[in-house]
Order: sequence, then C-alpha cells, then structure tokens
Amino acid sequence: MVDVVSVGEILVDMIPVDTDLYNMRFGGAPMNCAVACARLGLRVGAIAAVGDDPLGRFLFNTLEERGVDVSHVKRVKGKRTTIAFVVRLPHGEREFFFYRKPWLPTADTELVLNEDDFEYVRGAKVLHVSGFALSQEPARSNILELVKYAHENNVKVSFDPTYRPDVWESEEVAREIYEKLISLSDIVLATLREYEFILGTRDLRRIGMEMRRRGVRLIGVKMGRRGGALIRGERGCFMETYDVPVKDTVGAGDVWNAAVIYGYLRNRDLGDVLALANAVASLKCMHVGAIEGVPTIDEAMNLIRRQSNIRPENLQLT
Ligand SMILES: Nc1ncnc2c1ncn2[C@@H]1O[C@H](COP(=O)(O)OP(=O)(O)OP(=O)(O)O)[C@@H](O)[C@H]1O
Ligand SMILES: [Mg+2]
Repeated sequence: MVDVVSVGEILVDMIPVDTDLYNMRFGGAPMNCAVACARLGLRVGAIAAVGDDPLGRFLFNTLEERGVDVSHVKRVKGKRTTIAFVVRLPHGEREFFFYRKPWLPTADTELVLNEDDFEYVRGAKVLHVSGFALSQEPARSNILELVKYAHENNVKVSFDPTYRPDVWESEEVAREIYEKLISLSDIVLATLREYEFILGTRDLRRIGMEMRRRGVRLIGVKMGRRGGALIRGERGCFMETYDVPVKDTVGAGDVWNAAVIYGYLRNRDLGDVLALANAVASLKCMHVGAIEGVPTIDEAMNLIRRQSNIRPENLQLT
C-alpha cells in the first residue's frame, strides 16, 4: 500500500546550462512529484512507461534509488524513451520541445494500463496526474479511465495541467480534457498562466470561485519567482518565494505539488502547507534538474525558520 500514486509522463530532460552545453536529467512532471513525495517521507508509487533502452533504464533506476515503488513502471518494447529539450528565452522564461508524439512515437505515450494498475491505485489515498500525459493516445484514454476509477473509489485526485502547447493537437482539445480532469479532481495545482488558459482569468478570487464550482476542494496557484497561493473553501493565502540563489527552475512546480500533497495528507494548516511548498520549491531551484536538491522535511523547516520574515498572508476572497 502506498499513500500516493503518480501517473503520467516520464522522460529525460535536456537542460541548457550554457549556450552549447546541455545537462541530461531525470524528468517528467508527475515523476518529479513522486520523487519529492518520497523525499518528504510519503510512501509513493509510479505508473509510467519507459523505453527499452539505456535512457529508460536510467529513469527506472533513478526512481527506484529515490525510494519510489517502480513495480508498475512499464518498459515498452520497440519504443525509445521520451526526451524533452528546454530552451531558455529572455527574462528567465523558458520553452520546451519534445521528442515524442505528435512528432514521433516514443514510450511515455504508449502507457496501457491493466487490472493490476487499477487495484494498485485503489489502495492509495491520492492519485496525482499530469495533464501533459493525456495529450496523446493511448495514454489519454487509459489515464482518463484510471482517474474516473480513482474518483469513484474515494481515492482523492490531484491534478496539474502541465500545459505544453508543443504536444497538443489544439488549444480546444487541451481545454476539453482539462475540464474533464478538473471535474474529477479534489486538488488542482496549476500555474497562474494555466488558470488563465483554462478559465480566462488571472484573478485569484475568480479562480477560487470557478474551481469550487467545479467541485475542487484544494486549489494551488503557482506564480514562478513571485511565489504561490493556496485556496481551500473560503480561505486563501499567498506567499512570496524564499530568497535563494536560483540556478534552475525546471521541476519547481512539481516538487511544490509534492509538498502540498504531503500537507494535505498530514492535515496541516493551509499557511504552513504553503510555506513548506515554497521552501521545498525554492531549495530545488538552487540545483540543475527537477529532482536535485529536493529537501527533506527537516531541511525545508530550517529554511522556513531562517527566513521567518517571509510568511504567508491571508487573501481577501469574499
Ligand atoms: N526563481 C524562483 N525563486 C524561488 N522560488 C521559485 C522560483 N521560481 C519558482 N519558484 C518556486 O516554485 C514554485 C513553482 O514554480 P512555477 O510557478 O514556475 O511552476 P512550474 O509548475 O514549475 O511552472 P511550469 O509548469 O510553467 O514550468 C513557485 O510557486 C515558487 O515557490
Ligand atoms: Mg508545472
């Protein structure tokens, strides 16, 4: 039995560290989240598909070494492991392009689930799912069925859109799938930009209202270097990021999610959960790669104590 099952893309991140130098790192949003959950002390498992090649073995072994249950990770014969390239844009912005469907067929989209996977999820408390993974078939239908199954069996669904336009056939299809997933979710963790894409607003009060109307109980809003917000019921809080030397923000949102799931499962106060999520994400940003530098609870608490001048503030939502 695990606390959390993370389902979706697993891939190799190619991260630029200089004009013509790339670092190869472990990646895939829900898998980064799984690794961070394990680091925080949760029991966590992964459902994903790697290729039957050295990169696939690297990803599989990394998950296992980091304490994630890999018994439901599949090796797809005849397909290569998926690769993501990160490109840095001016003003700290970044862009991704993928070696993956719709461009070419690789392993992560070939995720086909069996009865065993469904049983596995039924034993968990939370199913965390990334919208990216539903951009292409057969993963799309398979994961959607799994999310419905979780919802019907009282496993809480946590959803992060992880919107990357590069892998979707159109904005309309992406929005339609996101709405389906949101209607099945208890927790939605997205960037401000993603809420704007889905709901057409960046206003926190309206985001809270719209998501509550769709049945979502806990709403996370990620705002990059500006910080983040959490909304539950009528209560909301916002918090700036901690002051750290930032090297790379890839995966920051994924480990932020892990801390929110941790706090949710441990029934922590909303403000404390937000501080933990920001601390975990900020500490990750000091390292290159999505899972490097992910702290333990003690390490995160240390930062929270050291920078106690940075605190969550209540949001006026009504
Ligand atoms: N430059 C930064 N300095 C400190 N903390 C940061 C920085 N960038 C991000 N973070 C932390 O990471 C969290 C998540 O980051 P962000 O909003 O970029 O989400 P993301 O999911 O990584 O974005 P995307 O999916 O678009 O790549 C923020 O809420 C913040 O706590
Ligand atoms: Mg994200």
